[in-house]
Parts: sequence; C-alpha cells; structure tokens
Amino acid sequence: MSSETEQFHTIARVGEIPEGAGRAFDVDGVMVAVFLEGGRYYAIEDYCPHQGAPLSDGVLFDKSVTCTWHGWRFSLEDGRHLDGSRSRVPTFPVRVVGDEIQVNVD
Ligand code: FES
Repeated sequence: MSSETEQFHTIARVGEIPEGAGRAFDVDGVMVAVFLEGGRYYAIEDYCPHQGAPLSDGVLFDKSVTCTWHGWRFSLEDGRHLDGSRSRVPTFPVRVVGDEIQVNVD
C-alpha cells in the first residue's frame, strides 16, 4: 500500500450522500462536509468562518454552498468566499475507489 493510499480515509459508500446534499464526517479528528453536486463529490471543512455554522447543512447551487445561518456562499472547488471577504474554507481531496468515497485531510 502506498503512502498516498494510506492518507485517504473511507467515509461513506456511493449512494449514501444524495445528489444535491451534504453530510458531515469526522475524518481523523477534522469535521469535514462532503457534498455530491452535479455528479461530483467535494470535501470542505464543516465550519463556516463567519460564525461557525456547519456547512454540511448548507444549500448547494452551481458548485457553491450557501451557509444556512447568514447566507455566506463558498466555492466547493477552492473554498473561496464568493461574496467578497477574504475568508476561505479549507478544501480536501476526495475520490471514489470502487464504491467507497474517500477523503484525505492530511
Ligand atoms: S455562520 Fe455562516 S454565514 Fe454566518
């Protein structure tokens, strides 16, 4: 097993995260929000930099997630705040191996 493989953690199976929705997972002590949007998985930290809401509850639209507390929007691709501030949410590599969804938080 390569070191790259060891850094990925299986967090769910394909089908357990519905299209257009997010789920929260504790990955090696990091709370991660994993989304399925447009047939692609995204993983970002499950913590809004505004006041700490769980972004896994957010609303998805066009590769972005909108925080349910005060409406800040973040890119699912790079974690950028899309409404002007310099805030950024950490993003993590996510992949599918067989029917396993895997995230790397290292
Ligand atoms: S806590 Fe997310 S927008 Fe305020």
